[in-house]
Amino acid sequence: MTDTESRLSSRASQETGSEIRVMFERAQAIDDVVRLEIGEPHFDTPVHVVEAAAEAAKGGATHYTSTYGMTELRAAIAEKARTDNGVPVDADGVIVTNGGIEALALALLSVVDPGSEVVLPTPEWTNYAAQVELAGGEPVRVPLSPEDGFDLDADAVIERISDDTAAVVLCRPTNPTGRVYDEESVRAVAEAAADHEAYLVADEVYERLTYEGTRTSAAALGDPEWVLSVNSFSKGYAMTGWRLGWLAGPEDVVDAAHVIRQRLSLCSSSVAQHAGLAALTGPQEPFEEMVDAYRDRRAYALDRTAELPAIDPVAPEGAFYLFCNVSSLEGSSMDVALRLLEEEGVSVTPGTAFGDAGEGYLRLSYATDQETLAAGFDRIESFLAQR
Ligand SMILES: Cc1ncc(COP(=O)(O)O)c(C=O)c1O
Repeated sequence: MTDTESRLSSRASQETGSEIRVMFERAQAIDDVVRLEIGEPHFDTPVHVVEAAAEAAKGGATHYTSTYGMTELRAAIAEKARTDNGVPVDADGVIVTNGGIEALALALLSVVDPGSEVVLPTPEWTNYAAQVELAGGEPVRVPLSPEDGFDLDADAVIERISDDTAAVVLCRPTNPTGRVYDEESVRAVAEAAADHEAYLVADEVYERLTYEGTRTSAAALGDPEWVLSVNSFSKGYAMTGWRLGWLAGPEDVVDAAHVIRQRLSLCSSSVAQHAGLAALTGPQEPFEEMVDAYRDRRAYALDRTAELPAIDPVAPEGAFYLFCNVSSLEGSSMDVALRLLEEEGVSVTPGTAFGDAGEGYLRLSYATDQETLAAGFDRIESFLAQR
């Protein structure tokens, strides 16, 4: 079929896809490649979780579940949110989803009207603006300052909140910069949003991966009636492939998300939900060991970048990324990322995958194993030696 014969919606034709996936696909096609572009824990899901899921499947947990998710899992999530993150939520305020990405989509579809605005501090995770547009809303990007290490500028964000605002999305810890926005600034933004009857959508999928300080949720910092918390098993529990996450918030929003979800994906995999239950209620040491390993790799990655003047990272407080200023190198972020891939076989993400504010930056993931990380830095060093 030629282009003129095809009948794509304007929505589909305008959707360009994520630059992270561009690098992912290109890297797949190369044999000897070091993958530092993707936020994928290299750890496999701990055995006790896999076994619980296998046992559940063998025992007949192979059917649809409630669209809200299994009752025991919703209760375990609420318990975790209360004890780990200080969020006053009970099981009725939780819906289990297919990863954080579906929780985010359901949150936006539930509260964004066509034409209403969603404020996004930027650089921002690659899917926020696209999901806002799929919901018919308009992304309003607020650039954060590189001089402040892309920390949350509460005043700049608050200035863009108005009665047209349906939501403000804050990612904490942040992908791509690894910043953990300070509690005072989050409180101020949450309060301003609530004053305008707008929701704070707090994307907390990296919440377990903080290297200093506490794991207080944004939902504990704002009026719980106006905070929607998006979370996931993917990163903190090494469960990306199970596609399991949750949305927690006021019951009317959770109920609305539930109705929309009946039309989209119906429910999460029953087997995955049993895995999630085991992850929350079983031993926590395997997950804590992962955080320790990321902490070591973060220190290693910072040591290596300290020796490379052309690569200047934002100091990361959480998640597993280094967002590095490479603006002294020739070409755009995408040019530099492609040259690194072609010349040295290292795959990284250009900063522009996170909006225009990411120009001049590359994102390196240290979620990989130590050997791969070391090989990646050796290759980056050799790339820079030739400039
Ligand atoms: C900031 C952020 N939010 C949400 C997600 C979604 O993750 P998942 O759908 O695997 O839970 C990701 C994945 O990379 C992310 O980086």
